[in-house]
Amino acid sequence: MDSIGTGGGTKSEGARASASTVTKATAKTGEVVKKKRTQMCLDLGQSTMRHETCPKCGLVYAKGEPDDEKTHAQYHAKFLANADGYGAITLKPDDGQSVVWENADGDVRCVRLDAVKANTGAIERVSKKVERELSLPENWIFDQTKNQVRTFVCVEKKGNRVIGALFAEKLRQAFRTLPGVKLSTSATEGTIVSHSGIPESARCGVRAIWTQSTARRRGLAREMLNTMRAHLVPGYVIASKECAFTQPTEAGTALALAYCDSDTFLVY
Ligand SMILES: CC(C)(COP(=O)(O)OP(=O)(O)OC[C@H]1O[C@@H](n2cnc3c(N)ncnc32)[C@H](O)[C@@H]1OP(=O)(O)O)[C@@H](O)C(=O)NCCC(=O)NCCS
Ligand SMILES: [Zn+2]
Repeated sequence: MDSIGTGGGTKSEGARASASTVTKATAKTGEVVKKKRTQMCLDLGQSTMRHETCPKCGLVYAKGEPDDEKTHAQYHAKFLANADGYGAITLKPDDGQSVVWENADGDVRCVRLDAVKANTGAIERVSKKVERELSLPENWIFDQTKNQVRTFVCVEKKGNRVIGALFAEKLRQAFRTLPGVKLSTSATEGTIVSHSGIPESARCGVRAIWTQSTARRRGLAREMLNTMRAHLVPGYVIASKECAFTQPTEAGTALALAYCDSDTFLVY
């Protein structure tokens, strides 16, 4: 299992042992014998992940981490200098793209970028943009698009501007969050998500999901998730309860809770 970015916690399962030496006196002799005992403590794989989202530029970063603070400061300055955010990218209609959803007005389309050679450049540009937006390690998404990760992209018809992306992979199991995930009331506070450490069956994992800051709360992430469920496994529509998420940022947690229509969701 992956442990990523600044929020990744220990995800080992089972019992973890810590050795301690215990002194015991024998009843018969009164002789003091030193015995080595092993103190067992249960590590159920609980994980704690904390991210913050800048209310102005929308970047997700680990507050207090010097590298992340620096990345944020640079990104924030560039974002303010360019209302579109830096690195706005476009995706023209092309072979190898399957249009899998269009909104009612026809001004936004969602395409699946099949893993064919012709799409490598487009997949690289989109995945690297999302890595930057989410402060993920370089190539954390892109490298996996060469393997099992599939790319879905939302494109605005006018100007072919990319306004959303989702990277999905097939999964076998994930972990259910504990009920009562705390969603902070402040846009700059982090969210804490813990999981049980007990594996449950899952069909697909959302490695990353992102929508352009100016296009949020218009249902685009929801549509990308619907599209992913219908198009990831041929001939099978994945149930929303079989979807798991990595990187539960605060907005991602809110989305997952709303999308799964539950007080828990799966993480991996
Ligand atoms: C998380 C993210 C992808 C959501 O995209 P979106 O297109 O705005 O989401 P949708 O409009 O489809 O939201 C669907 C529902 O999810 C919930 N939701 C989504 N974002 C939310 C937020 N920031 N706060 C509270 N609820 C939210 C709402 O219930 C929403 O329905 P509503 O708008 O009718 O109330 C977007 O905020 C984003 O890119 N954030 C930065 C990157 C990030 O954190 N990615 C998640 C990694 S786990
Ligand atoms: Zn900022």
